[in-house]
Amino acid sequence: MFERIHEVVIEAGKTLVNKMNSNFTVETKANDIDLVTEMDKKTEKYITEEIKKNFPDHAVFGEETVDEIGHDNMLEMLASHPNLWVIDPIDGTTNYVHGLPGYTISVALYCKGEAAYGIIYDPVAKEFFVAERGKGATLNGEAMCVSEHRYLSESLVSTGLPANNNSARYHGLEDYVKITPVTRDIRILGSAALQCAYVAAGRLDAVWIWGVNIWDIAAGRLIVEEAGGSVYQLDGSEVRFEFPHFTCTNGKIDKEWKEIFASIHGF
Ligand code: IPD
Ligand code: CA
Ligand code: CA
Repeated sequence: MFERIHEVVIEAGKTLVNKMNSNFTVETKANDIDLVTEMDKKTEKYITEEIKKNFPDHAVFGEETVDEIGHDNMLEMLASHPNLWVIDPIDGTTNYVHGLPGYTISVALYCKGEAAYGIIYDPVAKEFFVAERGKGATLNGEAMCVSEHRYLSESLVSTGLPANNNSARYHGLEDYVKITPVTRDIRILGSAALQCAYVAAGRLDAVWIWGVNIWDIAAGRLIVEEAGGSVYQLDGSEVRFEFPHFTCTNGKIDKEWKEIFASIHGF
């Protein structure tokens, strides 16, 4: 059912890699560290058009067009639409702009508030992570699952900082200082989606990011769950659609993981 969408995402990824070091335009959005390139816009347009061609009765929005439907409408659609696609055309735009690998395309299908299907594609590594609810998660067609680590002391964890200078960014930095010493080590890869995919593949044991947008983790949360991991808000509650303070783990370190966030932030 989704084969054509797989092809489209791979095709879009090829174009991103081919254009990576060319002279694409770069603009800022809400502030100086929130970047968008012409490639973000072109990728989103291409994937949106293909989804509409293949599923004419489905709705679609992406990071670069969300303003057209409006924030409140987006939340309403996420909660109730029977078939809503959510696209992050380049997750890791800053990596892309600086010529670094580690950017992804993220595409998810939400059905009445539930993630039903998700793809994360890393076009440089040619790694295609996909999950369909209830059917498990795969990496390049092979079943994948989360890691076996049980303690934070043996866990490689990761984070990201939101593209703004508000309090969420500083919470992330505070956590970084306090969490690094109790883990094996920490990474910031620059793509929330890629980090989720790596938790699903057992390469990382946890990711946390304050104040992400739903499109950053729309596919990742399902892929992690289908690979056997857990997803929740940093205070342990269910993931929200509006600026989630998001974390996902291998599902085996959750007691320690929740305790450390509770101890830092008093949840
Ligand atoms: C960003 C990346 C980054 C995360 C930010 C996101 P973008 O997405 O996922 O890792 O820390 O919160 O905004 O802007 O590259 O699509
Ligand atoms: Ca993103
Ligand atoms: Ca993006």
